[in-house]
Amino acid sequence: AIIRRTDYRAPDWLVPDVALHFDLDPALTKVRARLSVTRNGDHDRLLRLDGDGLVPLEVKVDGRLLAQSEWHLEAGALIIALADVAHEVETLVELAPKSNSKLMGLYASGGLLCTQCEAEGFRRITFFPDRPDILSRCRVHMVADKARFPILLANGDPIEQGDEADGRHWATWNDPYPKPCYLFALVAGDLACNADHFVTMSGRDVQLGIWVKEADLPRTAHAMQALKDSMAWDERVYGREYDLDVFNIVAVADFNFGAMENKGLNIFNSRYILADPETATDIDYDGVEGVVAHEYFHNWSGNRVTCRDWFQLSLKEGFTVFRDQNFSADMGSHAVKRIEDVRILRDGQFPEDSGPLAHPVRPESYMEISNFYTATIYNKGAELIRMMALMLGPERFRAGTDLYFARHDGQAATCEDFVRAMEEGGEIDLSQFRLWYEQAGTPRVRALLSHDPVTRQVELTLEQSVPPTPGQPEKQPMAIPLRVALFDPESGTHHGDELLMLTQAEQRFSFPDFATAPILSINRGFSAPVIVDTNRSQGDLAFLSAHDDDPFARYEAMQQLMVNVLVGRIGGQTADEGAVIDAIRQTLTDPTLDPAFVAEAIRLPSEAYLGDQMRQVDPDAIHAAREALQRSIGAELEPLWRDVHAGLKANGFALSPAAKGARKLRNAALHYLVASGAADGPAIAFDQFSSADNMTERQAALGTLANGVSPERVAALDIFYNRYSADALTLDKWFQTQAFAFHPDTVDLVEELGRHKDFTLSNPNRVRALYGAFSGNQWAFHHRSGKGYRLVADCIIALDGLNPQTAARLVPPLGRWKRFDTERAALMQAELRRILAQPGLSKDVTEQARKSLD
Ligand code: ARG
Ligand code: ZN
Repeated sequence: AIIRRTDYRAPDWLVPDVALHFDLDPALTKVRARLSVTRNGDHDRLLRLDGDGLVPLEVKVDGRLLAQSEWHLEAGALIIALADVAHEVETLVELAPKSNSKLMGLYASGGLLCTQCEAEGFRRITFFPDRPDILSRCRVHMVADKARFPILLANGDPIEQGDEADGRHWATWNDPYPKPCYLFALVAGDLACNADHFVTMSGRDVQLGIWVKEADLPRTAHAMQALKDSMAWDERVYGREYDLDVFNIVAVADFNFGAMENKGLNIFNSRYILADPETATDIDYDGVEGVVAHEYFHNWSGNRVTCRDWFQLSLKEGFTVFRDQNFSADMGSHAVKRIEDVRILRDGQFPEDSGPLAHPVRPESYMEISNFYTATIYNKGAELIRMMALMLGPERFRAGTDLYFARHDGQAATCEDFVRAMEEGGEIDLSQFRLWYEQAGTPRVRALLSHDPVTRQVELTLEQSVPPTPGQPEKQPMAIPLRVALFDPESGTHHGDELLMLTQAEQRFSFPDFATAPILSINRGFSAPVIVDTNRSQGDLAFLSAHDDDPFARYEAMQQLMVNVLVGRIGGQTADEGAVIDAIRQTLTDPTLDPAFVAEAIRLPSEAYLGDQMRQVDPDAIHAAREALQRSIGAELEPLWRDVHAGLKANGFALSPAAKGARKLRNAALHYLVASGAADGPAIAFDQFSSADNMTERQAALGTLANGVSPERVAALDIFYNRYSADALTLDKWFQTQAFAFHPDTVDLVEELGRHKDFTLSNPNRVRALYGAFSGNQWAFHHRSGKGYRLVADCIIALDGLNPQTAARLVPPLGRWKRFDTERAALMQAELRRILAQPGLSKDVTEQARKSLD
């Protein structure tokens, strides 16, 4: 069945209050739910309570047990006729959390019982109208064996607890804030707590708890610091204060995605909580900080103001990603964070937007909502908020968000509500801008600069087009904010940064009084999520690589310089690599630059990004050209790489931005040094691997070695395995490094790793570490034999019966067949058809595979 945005109807029945009673046990849990229901409007429609795999053992209305004939099930939902405007409906169901392999609803993970409800998991726990526009006050009573489950947590504030005679104990929690059921959570288990507190701006003292397995307690300090920083940041930047007496976070090992913002009780994939220098890289540390912030920020952008229906998902996700991006930028480097975020967008969202699964930030229809937790909803959604913030400026943007929060607090709102608050609070007309929510596809902007020496006029001609996407053959011109600057090649400076609004299909902008032709810096800061084509020469790009004062534009010029050489070579031209090598040398030796920025700027574009620049992706040619350029850069600048690598060796570990930047650049230097083919390259990498006092340097060295075929490779992988095989998160790195390696036998290695005794389909992190990483390894995944496609399809088929959500996330790489040669395309389509032919295939995988074949 296809659900459509325009079919939205207000709920027939509301549920202002809920009382839940859980008798918890992994094998058999009893759930009694008492719902106060009230008729919404004047109608005589039945009460429909969603259910998924539930059997009602009892159904009561106003205390009276209903006969079997007084209710029925329809597609899993419980249907009851009610006479009056208000009733109390009570149901009893039984669950088996330990056999819940979907990890949706109530499930067991490493001895814990925990929940995941977004988007539609609550209906796997109890009968309920499972839609985000039904807001209920919820009270939860839990009973469990005290020895196995000494800690009992739920949403809101703890009210009471006590012991029972038979070794069992109980706890009651109450959440005073009405919330949709997707924010429900409970956790039961043997957990240790990193306890702290935070005093809010109005002086309220909040108890903070991060709950993990006892042994993991030493790895929670970074998450706790991130939480306190997030709480202070949201007060300072958005005026948002926390609203309960406690805030708890629980880390679990088996989790379908990153984390979940349940009111007062966030539940996390442990990879986004646990960090110490021995096992976490700097990227992991940043991931912890960013995700802790993201989930915390949802308390306002998501929980206090929630979504009316799932088509509005970007209302909370796009905005919250925007908020966490800015938080992380404030905690570290704005320049580097922006570069990283654009890379995530280009690697994850641009391919989605140009493929068969393209959809608008506010989609029109879906089969399975879980498939819409996408880079488009999250990351492109964040870019939309960023564009509005840019057009409004900081004060008016804040006025807009203040209005949004004030107006919609306690409501289930829409993307339109957000835009309207921006318009009114920020005093701007966003009529045309709304197209960003409606039209899928990455807009392309062509920018042509011309200069007339006689009139001294500069003319910038901008043309835009939005490509056709599934269901949207024709597009209207968008409102595209482009920050530009015109550089004087003599002085190396510009006359100011301007924000141009491109609103028509074609538009001209004139700039007076230029004696000589300037150099165009455009889409500075990546002010709009578009692809820009320019008529800039390699010389212009080299100039900007050295002089642009906007760090993103400077990085971008360098990337474009590299792309031009690589794409030229792939197309058989003898593009000159000298300009790239010079630009890298000059960047490396510029003492004014932040090493973290340098590390970003000197990095070659990924193979996938290069593929996106080509009419047809040729994975082998891309790989060969990129490797060759890397080798030249390595060899030409070998002494520099040696200097940088030796010079940045730290004396002891620190987590400061400076120390992180130094490690990042040092690892880049190691990478180029090994790529140079220098005889001692593998030995230097192995030495770094062995002597490092932190995972950032250890894993980088391992990754570099994993690309080659040296004896050091084998040794390092063995040592790593033996050292970390007992630590699941770190063992994931061992799988991931091999799946991501540019090694001639990666496909066969991945096949072997799929049979390794430590591989399991029941842990989503492990599945992603192996198959997720592998399908992102363009060269290996697209092996012309088609074996890579077969491995991933086999995994999807095997996983679908256990965990369809995670299985469906592996489908999109197979759907990119249109971008490849006919042989590869046929092989990919054949695998998609094989998947679709499986009996009993989930809705999740069916939707993704069907759309991918179209
Ligand atoms: N709301 C969560 C977050 O962004 C993610 C929930 C994902 N749910 C899903 N069905 N994929 O932090
Ligand atoms: Zn989120």
